[in-house]
Amino acid sequence: MSNSAVLSSSIAKKYWMALTGLFLCLFLVGHLIGNLQLIFKVGEEGRKAFNEYAYFMQTNIFIKIMSYITYISILFHAVDGILLTIQNKKARPINYAYNNQAANTSTPARMMAILGSIILIFIATHMVNFWAKMHFGGLKLHTYELSMEGQMGPQKQQVYHTHTLSAQPIPEVEQIEVKNEIELYVKGSNLKVAETYKDLHSAVIAFFSGNDVHGTTGNKSALLAVILYTVSMLVLGFHLWHGFASAFQSLGINHKRYTPIIQTFGKAFSVLVPFAFAIIPILIYINR
Ligand code: HEM
Repeated sequence: MSNSAVLSSSIAKKYWMALTGLFLCLFLVGHLIGNLQLIFKVGEEGRKAFNEYAYFMQTNIFIKIMSYITYISILFHAVDGILLTIQNKKARPINYAYNNQAANTSTPARMMAILGSIILIFIATHMVNFWAKMHFGGLKLHTYELSMEGQMGPQKQQVYHTHTLSAQPIPEVEQIEVKNEIELYVKGSNLKVAETYKDLHSAVIAFFSGNDVHGTTGNKSALLAVILYTVSMLVLGFHLWHGFASAFQSLGINHKRYTPIIQTFGKAFSVLVPFAFAIIPILIYINR
């Protein structure tokens, strides 16, 4: 391949890395806002709000599309990063022959590759921790009754005697039928008595606190999980510290007045966002 072809393909890769990287920054903000509910909304109300939110995130078509774009962006960003690192090494055959590591790729680029690989490992384990449970089972159900004062009369007693509304999976109850996945009705009627959600809230709290929560077994290695999440957020912070502003550079956005603002914003972003993520498992552990 000619030098200019190598250059242009590496510019294209940098362009896509920048686009996917900035999209992933947007994902981080959305994900953070959703997860902050774990510490700002407490008690049964907080559990209900988070489980309803998780259900919405899993079923809303717009969010589903955004999720697929997120998965593709993560893969694209990672594969492009690996290819760029390999390409950079090959583009410097003389340095490579001398095995001069420091000269093969620039220090920030090499650091970005290492930090990015750690983040990729974090995301993979993180998705096994929660996402896989949410999508492929392994979560208890959180069922709560709806307020039906004056609507149900004696039937209410009958229904609730046989169906204790708890975090247990719905028992086979003759009087109750499930509609639209989450709605429990008195069989043969349009009387909705309860709603039932996958209890992601208890799964997260049990994971980071180590306590058994509403029938979900506590994580025996909760402290280790909190430490690993915190260290991963530190790594994410360093990755963003360099990556945020450099994405704008790769997109060719270079402006006397706006570039310093972007750089300052990028640094604030790379400190505040990972910090706010890290504080979630830490507070869950401290308040256990
Ligand atoms: C430390 C705080 C964090 C907590 C408590 C947390 C919690 C969760 C939970 C509960 C889910 C499952 C949601 C669902 O499938 O509906 C999830 C999914 C996910 N998380 Fe996190 N997360 C944290 C940090 C992060 C970070 C820092 C990243 C990226 C670097 C990340 C990337 C993801 C991804 C890619 C998914 C799948 C999203 C989707 O399916 O749309 N998470 N997280």
